[in-house]
Formats: sequence, C-alpha cells, structure tokens
Amino acid sequence: MSALPQHVRIVDVGPRDGLQNEKQMIPASIKIELVDRLTAAGFTNIEVTSFVSPKWVPQMSDAADVMSRIRRQAGVTYSVLVPNEKGLARALAAKADEIVVFAAASEAFSQRNINCSIDESIERFRPVAAAARAHGIRVRGALSCALGCPYQGDVAPSAVAHVARLMLDIGVQHIGVADTIGTGTPEKTKRVMDAVLDVYELDAISGHFHDTYGMATANVYACLELGISSFDSSIAGLGGCPYAKGATGNVATEDVLYLLNGLGIDTGIDFQKAVETGQWISGILDRKAHSRAGNAVTAKLAA
Ligand code: HMG
Ligand code: MG
Repeated sequence: MSALPQHVRIVDVGPRDGLQNEKQMIPASIKIELVDRLTAAGFTNIEVTSFVSPKWVPQMSDAADVMSRIRRQAGVTYSVLVPNEKGLARALAAKADEIVVFAAASEAFSQRNINCSIDESIERFRPVAAAARAHGIRVRGALSCALGCPYQGDVAPSAVAHVARLMLDIGVQHIGVADTIGTGTPEKTKRVMDAVLDVYELDAISGHFHDTYGMATANVYACLELGISSFDSSIAGLGGCPYAKGATGNVATEDVLYLLNGLGIDTGIDFQKAVETGQWISGILDRKAHSRAGNAVTAKLAA
C-alpha cells in the first residue's frame, strides 16, 4: 500500500451544497456569516453559492448579494456553481475565484437536475469553461451520480470515466467525483476512482461524498489509499440535493477533519473552530449537527 497523502485540501461546500437544500429561506446575512466563520477557521476553499436559475433553486437567488458581502481573505478560493453562460456572467460580475460546472454520469439525473442530456450539458459548458479560463478563472467540474443514481440505480465506472473525458476535453481542470446519493462503498469508490484516474491526473481529482448510508468517511479513506488528496465536505453535514430525494448531506467536514487529524494529515484548518461553526449553523437551523465528531467533542467540552 502506498503512503497516504501528507496534506489534504478540503473544500467546504456547506454554504452551497448544504444550504441549497434548506426549505425555509435563510437570510443572506447568515450565509455570509457562515462563509466568514469558515474563512476564520482556516479553510482555503469555500463553495459559497450557485448562480443557477432562481426558479429552480430559490434558496440560491441571493448569490450576488452573498458574494458581494463576504469578507474575503487573500489565499482563499471562493467558488460558485454555474450551470450556463448566464450563470457565468453573474459569476464574473461577482468576481468568483473559481467556477464549478456540474454534469451527471447518469442521463436520468442530468434531465432532472439541469433539464438536458449529458451531451447537451457538455455543449452548454464548452463556452462557459472557455470563457472562464480566458478570464483567468479556474474551472472545476462536479460529476454527479458517480456511484449510483436515484432514478437509474447502478452507474458503471466506465460511464463515469466517459463523462470525465468529455469534461477534460472542454477544459475542465479538476474533477470532483460525486456520490450524490451516498450509496457508495470503499471498493466501488476505488473502482470508480481508478477509472477516472485514466482520464485526470491524481492531483486533479477530488471525492465528494454524501453520507446517506454512513459510508462517506470510509470512502474518503479508500481515496486516500489511492493517493487522492482533495475532498469536498460540508460543515455540520449540511445539505443534500433538491433533485436527489432522500439523499442526506455531504459528509461532515468535522468528521473528515477528525479522520485526517488521526492520520496525522495536515489540512491547515482549526478543528475546534470548525466544530464551533458546525454547532453554530446547526443552532441557527434549529437542529443537531449531522457530525458525529463535532457533537462528541461538543458534548465532552460541556461535561
Ligand atoms: P431551464 O428551465 O431548462 O432553462 O433550466 P432556461 O434557459 O429556459 O431558463 C429558465 C429561466 O431561468 C429563465 O428565466 C432564465 O432566464 C433563468 P425566465 O426567462 O423564465 O424569466 N435562468 C437563470 N437565471 C439566473 N441564473 C442563471 C439562469 N439560467 C437560466 N444561471 C438550468 C436549465 C440549468 C438553468 C436549470 O435547470 C438550473 O438552474 N438547474 C440547477 C439545478 C441545481 O442547482 N441543482 C443543485 C446543484 S447540483 C448538486 O447539488 C450536485 C453536486 O453537489 C454534486 C453531487 O453531489 O452530485 C454538484
Ligand atoms: Mg453534492
């Protein structure tokens, strides 16, 4: 077995992937405070919001306001999701550091999530990626349903690699392999990642795991064994996807940090501040944090 990475990059997607799924409208001031708290905790990559159609995801309709009022810190990448050229224009106006385009490995999910086929989505993203790069903005890709689809069921690793290849061909620089519904297990994760490693370089791949079946940190570990050193996670395990009913949130950032700290892997993030942020936003949302590590540490401190 090869050595595990010594440093891991965490992208906290809570403000976007997490909050997009909340039923009650959350004030922009709360979203801004969440991003600012993550910045203060040492996160260097934060997925702030998405410039999607407000008709499709009303919760993200305040994206421009949020982007204009966060307190940016040098060295931190503030990224946004973009589904089309209109979204890119809004992202450019908001001075996003990085855009995220998102395709699916399953046709059925592509139709439900962005109202077009996989091939159509790639053609939609082609000018978006080119224009973003011409503006010097990094283009990351998210590949949904890489370990299973809520409509179609199984998804073959070769199907994932195929869409990854299409993303690479249009200039997407980094690919996030996403277990949208959280059904993946470590061996399946390794098979899918191995297939994507035929397309993207090791340091241009990240894992994006949802924790629906409790497998997310095991899947992160499986990726570490392959040398993958970039992961999306969500503070307090916020979220889900409005177009993947029943899927719970992303793996909690606090849980991933606890795993990485235990392995002696550096992230540059202050664990205690991350825990406090997770507890704070969960309090605002009037629920217990979906983070085993965060809740355990908080209970211990209170005792
Ligand atoms: P559509 O209805 O086919 O497209 O939606 P349209 O071009 O006909 O647009 C409909 C209306 O939206 C129009 O307004 C457009 O102007 C407007 P109207 O003329 O009716 O007044 N519109 C926009 N407004 C602002 N910003 C925009 C924009 N685009 C159109 N960018 C579309 C197609 C792709 C736009 C829509 O399906 C969409 O926005 N989908 C986004 C869905 C979404 O955000 N899903 C969650 C994110 S993906 C995810 O969470 C998974 C991920 O985390 C990885 C994982 O876990 O798997 C990434
Ligand atoms: Mg997601």
